[in-house]
This record gives sequence, C-alpha cells and structure tokens, in this order.
Amino acid sequence: MAKIKSKFVCQNCGYETAGYLGKCPECGSWASFVEEINSPALKKESPSIDVIDSFPPMKLSEIEMNSEIRMSTNISEFDRVLGGGIVQGSLTLIAGDPGIGKSTILLQTSGEICKKEKTVLYISAEESASQIKLRAERLGVKSDNLYIYPQTNLELIKKHIEELKPDLVIIDSIQAVYTSLIQSSAGSVSQIRECTNSLMQIAKSQNVSIIVIGHVTKEGNIAGPKVLEHMVDTVIQFEGDKYKTYRILRSIKNRFGNTSEVGIFEMSSKGLSEVVNPSELFLKEYNQTQTPGSTIIVTSEGTRPLLVEIQALVGTTPYPTPRRIANGVDTGRVLQILAVLEKRIGLNLSKQDVYVNVIGGIDVNEPAADLGIALAIVTCVRDVVFDSHTAIIGEIGLSGEIRAVNHIEKRINEAQKLGFKRIIIPEANEIQEEFKDIKIIKVKRILEAITRGIGNDN
Ligand SMILES: Nc1ncnc2c1ncn2[C@@H]1O[C@H](COP(=O)(O)OP(=O)(O)OP(=O)(O)O)[C@@H](O)[C@H]1O
Ligand SMILES: [Mg+2]
Ligand SMILES: [Zn+2]
Repeated sequence: MAKIKSKFVCQNCGYETAGYLGKCPECGSWASFVEEINSPALKKESPSIDVIDSFPPMKLSEIEMNSEIRMSTNISEFDRVLGGGIVQGSLTLIAGDPGIGKSTILLQTSGEICKKEKTVLYISAEESASQIKLRAERLGVKSDNLYIYPQTNLELIKKHIEELKPDLVIIDSIQAVYTSLIQSSAGSVSQIRECTNSLMQIAKSQNVSIIVIGHVTKEGNIAGPKVLEHMVDTVIQFEGDKYKTYRILRSIKNRFGNTSEVGIFEMSSKGLSEVVNPSELFLKEYNQTQTPGSTIIVTSEGTRPLLVEIQALVGTTPYPTPRRIANGVDTGRVLQILAVLEKRIGLNLSKQDVYVNVIGGIDVNEPAADLGIALAIVTCVRDVVFDSHTAIIGEIGLSGEIRAVNHIEKRINEAQKLGFKRIIIPEANEIQEEFKDIKIIKVKRILEAITRGIGNDN
C-alpha cells in the first residue's frame, strides 16, 4: 500500500507546501497552514478521449448563441445585484459573516421561486430539517415545490439533483459539505475546492442554477478560500451589522452583469424586506438628532447614490496616546484626514480622542466621503451644528485640495430628491446637468470648504 502523504495548505489562499510554514508566502497570512491528506488516491475514472473531444475548436461565427435565460427571484433588490435574476446553469456564491442572514434570504428566495411553479432543492448541511421548517414558518415560506434535504455528502447531493432535476439548488453551506473523493475534513481548502468544482460541473452539465453559501473568515476573506472566488460565476457579499437591522447585498464578481451593484434590506422577525428608498431610511433620525459633529454625505454604492450620516466625536484624551476609532469608514483614511487637517488648517488634535461613525451600520469605503468626515470633525471641535440642508461630496488630497469624484450628477440628484438645499462638491468636477432646486457650492481646498460650509473665521 502506498504511504499516505500529507501536505500543508494555506486555508486562506490555497498555497501548498510540503512542510508547515508560519507565514504564507503567497498571501501573507499568519498561522493559516493546515495539514491535509494528499490524496488524488481515489481517482475518478477519466472519460474516454472522444467524450472530452465532443467540442472541437470552432470559429466564433459558428458558435450558436443561446441567450442567457434568467430566473427572477421576485425580490427586486436581489435581482438587481444579480444583474437581472439568476442565470440558468450558473454557480453563485453568497458570502457573509455568521448570523448575518444568509440562510434567511435564500430560504425566502426559494419560497418566491417556488411560487412560479419551479422546483427548488435546499440542501441543509448545517441545520436539521425541522430547524429549516421552523424558519420557513416564521418567514411565511410554504410550497410543495420546495424540497429540503439535510445532507453533507456531495455524492448523495449530486444523486438527488440528478433525480429531482430542480430549477435551483441551494447549498447551505459549502464549508459543511464534503466529497468522499478526497480525505481532508469538510471545510478544508482541498474539500471546498473539490466540491465547488463538482458543483460547477453539475450546474453546467445539467443546466441547473446553484447558489452556495460561504462563511467569511475572521480576516474577512470568503471562506478562507480566496480560491473559491475564481471558481464561481458570481460572488455576492452579504454585509451589515448584526446588531442593526440593515443588510446590504453587494456583487463583487459577476460573469453576467455589473459588479459593485448593491441591494438593501431590512431584517425583522418576518425575514428580510427590501428597502426601496434607502437614503430616506438612513436619514430617518438625522433631523431629530442634529448635534455638532454630524454631516450628510452622498456616497455611491454601485450605480446607486446613497445619503448617509457621518458623526464625529472629539474630546480630550485620558490616555497617553490619543485614540482614533472609526466605524464604517477606514481608520487609515481617518488618520490621513486628521493629518491634512492638522497640517493645512492647523487643527491640533494630538491630545484629543477622535471617533468617527457611519450611522446605519453600513460601510462607506470610498474617498468621496473624506470631506464629509473632515467637516464632521471640524464642526465637533468648534461645537457648531452643520446646516442640516447641506450635503457634502469630495475627496481630500494630501495637500488639502478637494479632488473630483465619480457619478457626481447622480449624487447631486439624489440629494436634491431628498430635499437638500445646498451641496458642497469639488470644483474639479464638471457638471453638465442643470439643477434647479439645489444650490451647488464648488470648493477647491479644505479651508475653503470649511469657510463656505460652516461660514466663519479661519
Ligand atoms: N425571531 C427572530 N426575529 C427577528 N430576527 C431574527 C429572528 N430569528 C433570527 N433572526 C435574525 O436572523 C439572523 C440569523 O439569520 P440566518 O440564520 O439566516 O443567518 P446565517 O447567515 O444563515 O447564519 P449562520 O452563519 O449561522 O448560518 C439573526 O442574526 C437575526 O438577526
Ligand atoms: Mg445559515
Ligand atoms: Zn496564503
């Protein structure tokens, strides 16, 4: 009998070595290597060469085009993120933190699709059938076209997909299923890779759409395996703060549509409901709670502009090193803004703690939020209330210049639609459209933005 060999695999990126390494040379993760059994041992029978060669090289003009068939989920926010519905024969990955609501949204989606006389097979690899039933009752999902199958073995799953021929298969989750073809434990990179590969083959060969759920690791990578992202057609991230009610679906890879499109939902005991006008939701509390240190920015999520409130709190520090804490925005970005404020307008915060927070639990990861963050900090320091009818857009450069941002007209439009009377934007942005109900204030430098935004000395 051959000796069983093992290998060490980085659970983050899939890098393999013969011996243990503390740090991955590929992706730089620490302590990410796990020993896995090296077993191409149980080789699948290789198909005969004629079968493989059934698709010889073809001229582009000879290829028949079958237009992609899409299945609407009946949830328009979800459809939008998918680029107009689930493409037949595609493999989609939905990734998110534990407890964020992945099973919820896919059970709801299954229920909606079943209403259209389609069959859905929901593979529950983590929860028992009665747990799913309980959730379905709470969400009001009931249909005889929905099959629940608690199973972790991929070969059995495959068998039932072939027998049932469903229109959609949900795998909840990819980390919990395993194939008997390899010996590593479920959830290891080798298993995930092999299972995803098989699922891709099933999707393509049987023309069935498959959605797999993946948990996100502590580092925020999808299921350890970055590898997974390359293997599937579409990757959708499910984000949000578990303690708040908003959830955001964001497409980060899509072979059939636009990426960086987002869908916004609100979580309740009845499940996730769509938020059609998210800006209104995010601003709901704004007018009632106006205090120094809060501003409104127009961020752009995918093709959709979104108004969100930024809050800053600045106070004398009791610590030897002052704190800089950012929630919903990148801490590095906040540090850079503080450095510019210090250098360019002489704001000294070396003995002050600074907290920056995005209201609503969403992440704003674009430089266009810079100016709004800066003005929130400045108004807090000066203890003035920023005009509640003014929205702010602009990136801040290191020399204090305000730099142009993308989708400027869409952003202005959204602010106007929500009744804002003034908007501060970068001078560098050219505007073709005319805006009647909102006054556009163009600024070149941070100091000018402060003077015209807050309107006094300096
Ligand atoms: N009775 C309830 N009322 C309101 N919200 C609930 C209720 N039960 C669950 N939830 C919400 O649903 C979330 C869990 O949803 P779900 O099980 O779909 O998440 P998940 O991402 O699949 O989690 P896991 O990683 O455990 O599989 C909870 O965090 C909570 O916000
Ligand atoms: Mg779940
Ligand atoms: Zn790695």
